[in-house]
Formats: sequence, structure tokens, C-alpha cells
Amino acid sequence: MDILGKIQLHREEERRLAWEGTFGEYLEILKERPYVAQSAHSRVYNMIKDAGIEEVNGTKKYNFFNNQIFGLEDSIERLVEEYFHPAAKRLDVRKRILLLMGPVSGGKSTIVTMLKRGLEDYSKTESGAVYAIKGCPMHEDPLHLIPHHLRDDFYREFGIRIEGSLSPLNTMRLEKEYGNCIEDVMVERIFFSEDKRTGIGTFSPSDPKSQDIADLTGSIDFSTIAEFGSESDPRAYRFDGELNKANRGMMEFQEMLKCDEKFLWHLLSLTQEGNFKAGRFALISADELIVAHTNESEYRSFIANKKNEALHSRIIVMGVPYNLRVSEEERIYEKMIKESDMSHVHIAPHALRVAAIFSVLTRLMDSKKQGMDLIKKMRLYDGEIVEGYNHIDLEELQKEFADEGMSGIDPRYVINRISSAIIRKEVPSINALDVLRSMKDGLDHHASITKEDKERFMNFISLARKEYDEIAKKEVQKAFVYSYEESAKTLMDNYLDNVEAYCNKNKLRDPLTGEEMSPDEKLMRSIEEQIGISENAKKAFREEILIRISAYARKGKKFDYNSHERLREAIQKKLFADLKDVVKITTSSKTPDEAQLKKVNEVIARLVDEHGYNTTSANELLRYVGSLLNR
Ligand SMILES: Nc1ncnc2c1ncn2[C@@H]1O[C@H](COP(=O)(O)OP(=O)(O)OP(=O)(O)O)[C@@H](O)[C@H]1O
Ligand SMILES: [Mg+2]
Repeated sequence: MDILGKIQLHREEERRLAWEGTFGEYLEILKERPYVAQSAHSRVYNMIKDAGIEEVNGTKKYNFFNNQIFGLEDSIERLVEEYFHPAAKRLDVRKRILLLMGPVSGGKSTIVTMLKRGLEDYSKTESGAVYAIKGCPMHEDPLHLIPHHLRDDFYREFGIRIEGSLSPLNTMRLEKEYGNCIEDVMVERIFFSEDKRTGIGTFSPSDPKSQDIADLTGSIDFSTIAEFGSESDPRAYRFDGELNKANRGMMEFQEMLKCDEKFLWHLLSLTQEGNFKAGRFALISADELIVAHTNESEYRSFIANKKNEALHSRIIVMGVPYNLRVSEEERIYEKMIKESDMSHVHIAPHALRVAAIFSVLTRLMDSKKQGMDLIKKMRLYDGEIVEGYNHIDLEELQKEFADEGMSGIDPRYVINRISSAIIRKEVPSINALDVLRSMKDGLDHHASITKEDKERFMNFISLARKEYDEIAKKEVQKAFVYSYEESAKTLMDNYLDNVEAYCNKNKLRDPLTGEEMSPDEKLMRSIEEQIGISENAKKAFREEILIRISAYARKGKKFDYNSHERLREAIQKKLFADLKDVVKITTSSKTPDEAQLKKVNEVIARLVDEHGYNTTSANELLRYVGSLLNR
């Protein structure tokens, strides 16, 4: 459909969803769908829940955050289960300000933005519908109209608890416009929209000295005082602060701790009673989620100040550390690149992975665990199998440091360096080495890196480079074999036939001549030696493999190339060892002969067709691996 058609459809949809009626009619809606009277916190929680929750290895995965937030499952789970969930149940935490605390560009704003956009969409759905007193600048909850002394009766009839008092403005309107007939008060369905300042607000601090509380709670409209006669007439007040506008939904409080402390004290009654004070009026009940964010150093100095104690105890702090999993980090970069103007650039396979390895390394802390190093830790964190360690070790590692992930290289830095690598190159194609080089160069100009850190980081660059060397070699070698999987399988089958004959003291039959022959000791050893199996250990190794095969057979599972980790490694290494010379000569020859040239072109074609390279990056890869093998 073309864009004009879509716009029209959208308008029709808006018209279809719109509703307005009297308070009496609203009560009819409540009888059928009592959930529309839910609190703001409950709506946020249900929005997240309705998107679906999956449980993966004991960690809850919230689909709501899929595709935007990566590697923060634990933080998100805490956020939902320790804040949103209890808040939805009307527990006291909902009055507290939710403060996301984490390192720069670690995803705090992204989380908040997702909640905002999510609420906007959710308010257009059946289950997320919101109704408000018509014409109220704060979209006040219509149920506030029910007088306090009737609320128990209301609960008995509707099963809905009402919290909060009718605001000064609507108290006056009820009297003046509706002659105190509650049932006649007009109610409308509202749709959250940050642009229209309905139910979604954002507050960002300005200069602490001149910061005006009116930005939060609104101000007197001097032009109307004459009309209404007094400053304490609510009609002479503009309820247009962010707290007012965000009522029923959420308010983002950016960089909260940059505000002057006196300013923050205004928030005390809000965080205690769920009310705030505006102008010369009685307290106004607020039904909104307040999410603030800050970095660690500001947070530390905030809690170090005794004067802030009262406020501090009314804030719920949730850590949002950096992601520590390489594969997830890669996805962060992919997403950021897709959203940027670099999306047309060819990024060679593994370039983002190598960048991710580097940044994750800068975020990890050295474990005291025996034999553990950062690379192993990085692998374990990313769900890889590391010999000698299991999931218990992983859990211990994750618990070892409370503030792991609170420092290190941030995703924005990486993206900036990738884009400067792109600018430096003439062709719109960059590879892992370009990225690493650019990251390294950038460290010189990085403002917030100490000399010590810089040295550490340089070391991580070379670690990441080593990882890449291995990846690159494997990739090229694989591309040299006509069909890698096929060759590996043939070699393995051959090996297994020999092992079986060896262990059972049998002869083998030559498939061509039909002659009987002894097991090929040379072949078996050439494979076993690849993973350092000694002459003395070979028998045990071969028997172990046969046991594994029969265990598989018993369970009706097929034993294949991937069923035995070490055997797979041995086969792979053997294949590569056989290839090494061919690869070396072919890739490094300055004047390749015809056969070599043909091979190179074949390999490049395979890299392009099957491994995601383009011709530029495939050529670069071959040249690099050639130089590696000649070292
Ligand atoms: N864990 C993550 N998952 C997905 N994207 C992430 C993650 N961490 C950071 N990003 C991306 O990094 C960029 C910066 O993140 P964001 O602005 O949300 O960080 P922030 O914590 O608010 O930072 P700041 O403290 O600088 O305000 C965004 O493009 C965001 O999408
Ligand atoms: Mg931010």
C-alpha cells in the first residue's frame, strides 16, 4: 500500500478507537472490562507481560525487549520482577522513583525509550486502553470522581480499588460545569503520545541555578488571574509540567542527579505518598511511573551526601551494566549499523565479532579462579564450552564481582571507530583488521581513558587480533576444501573404520581390491597427533571413542562429526595440516601460475558465495592469511 493509503488507514483506525461518554457510561465499560482502570504501573507490567515471556535456562526472557536490547537479560529480569511486577500489585515500590544506573551508552535510554514507545502503542490496544476525564490537562482518572466515603461500596460492586483524590481543578469543574452531577462528567479514551504530551513526559535538567520547579509541576497563568480573580483558582493555573502531562503513563527523568538537591527535595512527597504539590493547591495524586537514569559516579556522590538520605531511601536503583556476551555485543553493533547511515557498507564477516571481543574483554574483571584467564572467561560467558569448566564455574564467575560490566569500552565508541574506519578507506568495504586498527588509534584520543587502562586495552587489541588470526585461518582453509563438511566426514569415517578394526583386533577389507589388510596405524596416528595424543594414550582414546559410538547407538542417536569434541578438533586440524602448504603457496605467491590462479579464484568465489564476503574483503582475507602462514 502506498503511503497516502496508510495515512488514511491510520486516521480511520484512530476514529474507530475514539470513545467519549458520560461517567455513567464509563462505569458500564468498567463492568465489562475492569482492567481498564488499572494503575500506570500495572499497565506497564501488563504491556511487558502481554508481549510474552519465555524461560531459557532459568532466566526469563521478555519478548518486549527483543530486537532492541541484547545481553541484558539479568538486568531486565530484575527490573521486571523486582520493580514492575510488585509495583503492578500496588506495593509501595511503585511510589519510588526507578533509577537506572549504569555506564555510558550501556542501554539505559534505550530501555526507557522502548517503554515510552511501547506505552504509546499499548494504549491503542484493547488491553492497554486508558480513559480520562475529558478536558483535563492531567488526564485524570475518572474514578477519582467517586467520593472517598463511597469507595468501599464501589469496591464491593466493581472489585476495583480507587486511589487518590480528585484534583483541585476537576473538583472545581465538577461544581461549576457539572453542578456536582458526577454521572454527567464527560470521560474520553486517551492515547498516549509523547509528541502530544499525553501520558508520556520527559524532563531534562537545565542549569541547576535557574531550574524551575514549574517545569515539573506547571505554573500560574498570569494572563488569566484577572479573569478568575485569584491565584488560588485552579483555572488560573497551567497544569502543564512534565509530572502533570505524564500522569497515567510515565515520565523519564533524564540525568536526575545532575539536578540541584533542593530541586530534588520537591520529589519527596511524590516518592512517599504518591502526591505532588503544585502552586497553592492541595496535593495532586499522581499515577505515573517515574524512571530516571544516571551514571555510577554521579550516583556515588549522591549517596555520599548525607543530606540526600531521605530521597535516597525512596529511590529504587537498578544496575544496567554493559553486556558481557560477545555474540550479543555483535548484535548490538549490527543493530546500530542498521540504524545508521553506514548500512550500505560491506562489513566483512567477523569484523564485528572481533570488535565485540575487544570491548567485552575491556569490561571483564580478572578472576581469582585457578587457571582462569580473560579469554576463557569471555568464552564461558558467551555460552561456549571451555574444557575443565562447567555451568557451576560460570555461575561462580558471574557472582565474583558485583560491579563487573560497569566500566570498559562502550558500544558508541566502537560504532564511532567503525565509521571512521569507513571514512578512511576508499572502498565501502571494511574488515576486522580495519576495525581493530581504528579502535587502537582511537584509544589515543579517548578522553576518559587513563594511561593504565590504555595499556590494558592495547593488550586486549592484540588478544582480539590473535582470536581473529585463528578465525581467519580456519575460514580460508575451509574455503580451500571443495566441500569441507564432506571431506571431514570422509576422513572421520575412514578413521573410525580403522579404530574399530584395531580395537576388535580385526582386519579391514580394501573396498577396491577386496583384499584383507591391517588397520592403518599411520593414518590413525596422523590424526591423533594433531591433538597431542601420545603413543601410550592412543589405545585409551580409541576405546573411548568406540564406547561413545555404542552409547550413541544405544540411544538411537547418530554418531557424527560433531559428536566428539576432541575428535572433531583432530579431524579439522588434520585436514588443515594437509592443506597448509597448498594454502601457503597459493595465497602468498606473488606470481601465481595458472593452476594457482584458478584455485585462488575458486576460493574467492566460495568465500563470496558461501561465507558472506565480497570480492574486496575476500582478497584481503586471502592476502592476510597468506602472510600469517608464512610467518
Ligand atoms: N545492551 C544493549 N543492547 C542493545 N543496544 C545497546 C545496548 N547497550 C547499548 N546499546 C546501544 O548503544 C547506544 C547507546 O545506548 P543508550 O543511549 O541507550 O545508552 P545510555 O545508557 O542511555 O547512555 P548515556 O549514559 O550516554 O546516556 C544505543 O544505540 C543503544 O541501542
Ligand atoms: Mg542516555
